[in-house]
Amino acid sequence: MKKLRLVQTNPKHKDWNAYLSLSATYFKENWPDLFPKNLEEIIKEYDTKLKKRLAEGGRGLFLLEESGKYVGIANIYLSNENGDVFAYIAEFYILPDKRRRSLGKIFFEILVKWGKQNEVTGIKLEVSKNKEVAISFWRSLGFEIAGESLDKFYYIKKYELIR
Ligand SMILES: CC(C)(COP(=O)(O)OP(=O)(O)OC[C@H]1O[C@@H](n2cnc3c(N)ncnc32)[C@H](O)[C@@H]1OP(=O)(O)O)[C@@H](O)C(=O)NCCC(=O)NCCS
Repeated sequence: MKKLRLVQTNPKHKDWNAYLSLSATYFKENWPDLFPKNLEEIIKEYDTKLKKRLAEGGRGLFLLEESGKYVGIANIYLSNENGDVFAYIAEFYILPDKRRRSLGKIFFEILVKWGKQNEVTGIKLEVSKNKEVAISFWRSLGFEIAGESLDKFYYIKKYELIR
């Protein structure tokens, strides 16, 4: 039986380092060429960068805890577009050995509730065209293509489809 808990973190939170560590693992797994350094160095650089972004406001950093262990992260920021507020999913990650057990889907559903509290109009994200698993995942959650560039799809899910 899964015992899940959402933890929102920040630099003063005791689990800030756990968030950074999972982020670095995510970057290294997904973009090994862009992140050739070791995990400690990636963590150090991201610590500084993320603190700055967080200070700008409108950002939520979340850990998903399953039975006392952190199994995933999400980094979401709010963006005001012509009066509509969109939640952008910048990072979303479930640890490799925890996948295909619906944790990603449940994590997303929990985050939708956070979006509702922030009165968002919809959720947006971008995915590289070669990330087939991620594309399959977001499509399974009802995301639709709103645009594309040479190497990315831009996905959207309007909240009226979520409520
Ligand atoms: C994408 C990711 C978050 C999915 O997490 P997950 O917990 O395994 O996903 P779920 O078990 O909730 O899967 C939900 C649905 O997504 C689709 N899906 C998930 N993994 C898939 C895979 N490997 N192949 C095909 N479809 C997949 C399926 O439709 C699945 O439903 P099903 O299991 O009933 O068939 C996870 O694979 C991950 O962290 N990948 C690396 C990081 C990443 O790509 N993040 C997204 C950044 S945009």
